[in-house]
Amino acid sequence: MLSLHSFFCARVPAFTEQIQLDIRVRERIVGAGLKAHPTHAMEPIYEGKAKRLFTTEDPNVLRMEYKDSATAFNGVKKEDFENKGRMNKAITLIIYKMLEGKGVKTHLVGDVDDINLLVKKVSIMPLEVIVRNVAAGSFSKRMGVKEGTAFTKPIVEFSYKDDALNDPFINDDYAREMGAATEEECAYIKRMALLINETLKEFFLKANLRLIDFKIEFGRLATDPKQIVLADEISPDTCRLWDVATGKKMDKDRFRQGLGEFMESYAEVLSRLQK
Ligand SMILES: Nc1ncnc2c1ncn2[C@@H]1O[C@H](COP(=O)(O)OP(=O)(O)OP(=O)(O)O)[C@@H](O)[C@H]1O
Ligand SMILES: [Mg+2]
Repeated sequence: MLSLHSFFCARVPAFTEQIQLDIRVRERIVGAGLKAHPTHAMEPIYEGKAKRLFTTEDPNVLRMEYKDSATAFNGVKKEDFENKGRMNKAITLIIYKMLEGKGVKTHLVGDVDDINLLVKKVSIMPLEVIVRNVAAGSFSKRMGVKEGTAFTKPIVEFSYKDDALNDPFINDDYAREMGAATEEECAYIKRMALLINETLKEFFLKANLRLIDFKIEFGRLATDPKQIVLADEISPDTCRLWDVATGKKMDKDRFRQGLGEFMESYAEVLSRLQK
């Protein structure tokens, strides 16, 4: 007769794989002599389009796994690309460490392995915060402004994070009335977004990349909901980056627009940031 465990694992192979991954992750952390933030055998709590979240033994820390899938147009276009998760995780880690070094408070706790990071558990504010330096994407479409037109000053815009509503464009009054953020919090988030923009612009420029625009998310710390920190990822999935010399797109627009050399561009971004 099948034991309950073998019956369950036979039915759900992903479950067995997950336990094995968790054990490997733990071995790597302990083996590397890092603070053993126990990450093994915990519950998957969320699967998004690009990442999975797992609990750890610390109720205030989550493991964030970067997947290989690419999606666009709110999940309508979808494909898997080998190493995408590994590259986005590595790029996010480099950027988050750099931002922390500049005094930006983030959810980053530490590195785990090639596709996993440990992050502080937050309650994500239902706002997508977009900063634009140059017209592109939905701005160009909505406003009829030619892609590549530089703005005199950066634009900060909010959309309401709700896939069912297609993440509609909102302002701080909407954010207040939807209970997403108070006026003071919106002002703080806008200041932080502009500071992050200046820091990122300079950082990418050193890698011969022009920061056209990007999307960030903020969350309230589980341990202290009054504290708002930068969360989620910063990668070529969430930034538009153009090569300074040639103007070549080096980000997810290559996938959205079917331009080819998608992962090659991510690899090039990572290698330039590692220099
Ligand atoms: N530190 C954190 N604590 C809790 N949740 C987080 C944290 N950082 C990011 N998240 C959330 O984890 C999820 C990451 O998954 P992913 O980016 O794949 O989601 P998604 O498909 O973009 O969907 P959506 O952002 O609409 O939920 C997102 O919902 C993101 O807001
Ligand atoms: Mg996401």
